[in-house]
Amino acid sequence: VSHLSATVIRRPDEWAAALEEVRSRGGDVGLVPTMGALHGGHLSLVRRAAATCAVAAVSVYVNPLQFGTGEDLERYPRHLDADVEAAGEAGARLVFAPSVEEMWPSPPVATVCVGAPAGRWEGAIRPGHFDGVATIVAKLINLSGRCVAFFGEKDYQQVVVVRSVVADLSLPAAVVACPTVREVDGLALSSRNVFLDAGERAVAPRLYAALLAGKRLVEDGCADPTRVADAVTSVLATDGHFALDYAAVVDPDTLEVPGTLAGEVRLLVAARLGRTRLIDNLAAVSPRLRAGGAGTGSP
Ligand code: PAF
Repeated sequence: VSHLSATVIRRPDEWAAALEEVRSRGGDVGLVPTMGALHGGHLSLVRRAAATCAVAAVSVYVNPLQFGTGEDLERYPRHLDADVEAAGEAGARLVFAPSVEEMWPSPPVATVCVGAPAGRWEGAIRPGHFDGVATIVAKLINLSGRCVAFFGEKDYQQVVVVRSVVADLSLPAAVVACPTVREVDGLALSSRNVFLDAGERAVAPRLYAALLAGKRLVEDGCADPTRVADAVTSVLATDGHFALDYAAVVDPDTLEVPGTLAGEVRLLVAARLGRTRLIDNLAAVSPRLRAGGAGTGSP
């Protein structure tokens, strides 16, 4: 039985040197930034990195900068040993697990500040969240050096923000977004799902059902983003469990709500279920053509 294992590196300078060595031997680096508590979604990123790059390198770092006051930084799940084992079995060769003090011996005075599209949706509800994500992602890519960086589409807005940060700061990474992995009942895998009690877990897949209802409406040709958002909301409102933060159908690049729906769009939803906040999203393609003929179905 082959049991693959990953080497754990704690110090930022050792991490930088290890990846430099991979490149000096002609290999490319597949970086998978995570906050640990690895689940099947993360492991699909690790497998993709291992399949397409010489070395899959996973970072495990619960980044305090991206948590607001009153959020779940303290109770965020941490299981480094299990993470190292799971990452190794999925094909990771290196795991970077620095402490907060190793990353920032004193609180950072220089951080990355992201404009639109970080201000809306998650950014509106979690002020400063994407600045924290952008800061750690920029630091991880700078430490790692030239790499392919893998992110899950489950955090769709994060992918859009990270692409902007990488492009605008000319960070040496190619960003690859990978599809959301779901439980059989449709619930998107998330490290926060462990917080759901049995009753909450039972209704949680309704978030995905709500997105599917919105997607059907878009794909039936509904051009009105408000009607689609209302359809998503009404699925969640059928029982009293969810406290909705937002439901929207947006342009997949700008994350703005378009005047009329045409071509590719993205459905976004976020809701609280008890003490746990869940987010999810889904792509949909309207049969209507975008002005200028950029929609699908154009001849
Ligand atoms: O998606 C996550 O787990 C985090 O936001 C990331 C990208 C690892 C940055 O801390």
